[in-house]
Amino acid sequence: MASGGMKIKNLSRNDLCWCGSGKKYKKCHMEMELQLEELRKKGYIVPGRKQIKTEAQIEGIRQSSQLTREILDMLGEYIKPGITTREIDHLVYDYTIKAGAYPAALNYKGFPASICTSLNNVICHGIPDETQLQDGDILNVDVTSILNKYYGDASRMFIIGNAAEQACKLVQVAKECLYLGIDQVKPFNRIGDIAFAIEQHANKHGFSVVQDFGGHGVGLEFHEEPFVHHYGQKDSGMVLVPNMVFTVEPMINAGNYKCRVLEDGWTTVTVDNSLSAQWEHTVRVTENSVEILTG
Ligand code: MF3
Ligand code: CO
Ligand code: CO
Repeated sequence: MASGGMKIKNLSRNDLCWCGSGKKYKKCHMEMELQLEELRKKGYIVPGRKQIKTEAQIEGIRQSSQLTREILDMLGEYIKPGITTREIDHLVYDYTIKAGAYPAALNYKGFPASICTSLNNVICHGIPDETQLQDGDILNVDVTSILNKYYGDASRMFIIGNAAEQACKLVQVAKECLYLGIDQVKPFNRIGDIAFAIEQHANKHGFSVVQDFGGHGVGLEFHEEPFVHHYGQKDSGMVLVPNMVFTVEPMINAGNYKCRVLEDGWTTVTVDNSLSAQWEHTVRVTENSVEILTG
């Protein structure tokens, strides 16, 4: 125990850092936490220790995220006209179990399948069923794997056969929104910077950004703090610091941004029945930029 000296959130300068690095606090997270404390006093929303992952946790989340990516890659060769979304669900379930993992969605708050399949005007949380994919459809498949208790969450769009120009453009712009958002992920930027970049780009193309759903901290649980909104102002929301792990997952509508949840309690559609597209990655804030864990 260090003699005298002030304690910062229960730790003295010479104690071992809380993050498990084996380094002394003063050589590890002390300086950053002093900086965050200053920002907090000025009224900024800052992450707590729970939002900052240890090296061991990051490695675990990286492994589950890579499995999620592998599953989405695997689906590429199966998703074509005629396949049902339930068949896609079963492909993911089998692959996940064979990999020694478990699909996070299955029975999550009562969700009845291993993945979400959101077709055309479905924004998110579509439930796999007997619907056969048809030429011209656009489909989001959202996969979250739990491997060794760690969560990795990602989703992609699939264009079935030949889709209309406007549908293809929506899918493309939604993807650009994801990567422009991710470009804003770096230490001491804020969640609002991600949101602003996404909304600007969507609006530039005449599309709207869904407000009722967003990204989220992820890794030790499916949905953790912070909430990552995808619309709004720069310089707002939580400050980002190294080793925060969260998703960026903009939902972009061709028409109105508003959502409606169907009677099943899950399937979320556009109020105006316009098309919706979404892409998602799990990302980590690094020392100076970002690592796409599901990339
Ligand atoms: N994977 C979704 C997300 O990106 C959450 C799905 S919750 C479920 O956050 F229960 F619908 F699977
Ligand atoms: Co997801
Ligand atoms: Co997510």
